Amino acid sequence: MKDLFEKIYRDKGPLGKWAAQAEGYFVFPKLEGQISNRMKFQGKDVITWSINDYLGLANNPEVRKVDAEAAAAYGSAYPMGARMMSGHTDLHEKLQEELAAFVNKEAAYLLNFGYQGMVSTIDALVSKDDVIVYDVDAHACIIDGVRLHMGKRFTYKHNDVESLEKNLERATKMAEHTGGGILVISEGVFGMRGEQGRLKEIVALKEKFQFRLFVDDAHGFGTLGATGAGTGEEQGVQDDIDVYFATFAKSMASTGAFIAADKEIIDYLKYNLRSQMFAKSLQMQLVVGALKRLDMLRTMPELKKNLWTIVDALQSGLKDRGFDIGTTQSCVTPVYLKGSIPEAMALVRDLRENYGIFCSIVVYPVIPKGLILLRMIPTATHTLVDVKETLDAFDAIRERLENGTYKRMSAALIAAMGE
Ligand SMILES: Cc1ncc(COP(=O)(O)O)c(C=O)c1O
Repeated sequence: MKDLFEKIYRDKGPLGKWAAQAEGYFVFPKLEGQISNRMKFQGKDVITWSINDYLGLANNPEVRKVDAEAAAAYGSAYPMGARMMSGHTDLHEKLQEELAAFVNKEAAYLLNFGYQGMVSTIDALVSKDDVIVYDVDAHACIIDGVRLHMGKRFTYKHNDVESLEKNLERATKMAEHTGGGILVISEGVFGMRGEQGRLKEIVALKEKFQFRLFVDDAHGFGTLGATGAGTGEEQGVQDDIDVYFATFAKSMASTGAFIAADKEIIDYLKYNLRSQMFAKSLQMQLVVGALKRLDMLRTMPELKKNLWTIVDALQSGLKDRGFDIGTTQSCVTPVYLKGSIPEAMALVRDLRENYGIFCSIVVYPVIPKGLILLRMIPTATHTLVDVKETLDAFDAIRERLENGTYKRMSAALIAAMGE
């Protein structure tokens, strides 16, 4: 018999195998200083394009004050226990009511973490006779939620409504056979490439098929829609989203999440959502902090306006200079370049060390081999000077990528590693 750990000693996984070259720099980097457009990385000032603080609330003085006062008043323990047992409070309820009103749903329920809450919500919504149909590029939390499902599931091609329709036909046959229903799951905004889920077209399929729609709007909440209520509002279909999800980890710059739906559905989830029934309630300091943030989302439209000024300047600047930013329809700004993983490493090192630009880098196996994706998240704290500096830096690194500089640098690096 094999030792359980044998495979771990042998194979660190597709990303883990790069740990020696990547850790501390490309992965697990330590950004220091207050969360903002400019922070420190390894002692150097960098413009940070990798933090999901869309509206710039993370370090807003009013937010920081409320967070600090809540921490002083409640500490990090209160309330103790799961919501159902001893962890329920008026403020949890108040936040839920305000969130529901903000996203135009009858009711909402708080989740401790978005990831775990998504997994648990999917688990609670389906029984073994039901069929799930979901986008093949869905976030890991959706994939993990689907993994718990004991019944049938189908994926459809990424954001491809024709493929969804084909799979709905298969799912309908299956559900008719099992006597169950159908749950379709999409993201509001796909966080890697920035496209909006085609919610309007998905919703239109409700005329032809019977299903319920669950939308993970992590990146849309606070950034899209006239009032910031997200992708459903942006596309005019919020009412047709049966269960709406958003996390506090992005535009709310905090921790926690929520789901919103008709009251009867939320009432059911309250009693069946295992991640909340068997885990400690969201800390009060986070609840108080979320109330403050939500109030700012509601009453300070200039936050979203400032965000979009930066998004527009960055995206149109990149396009004008001939960069491929794919099909983004949101703040998420990808820049696609062609190159190998070692070239990508040399390029990002150059960007950080010589141009003071910090952005995330995504390579195979997350995206196809031979592509480098530099993923940028603009925020309301960035300035047009940050954008200009970044665009100039991108011009310079593209030239060096194309003239083979990074190929030579990476070859030297690989040779040094071999010695
Ligand atoms: C699309 C999507 N869903 C869910 C999550 C998980 O949310 P949380 O960070 O609150 O666990 C994330 C990442 O934060 C995300 O990008």
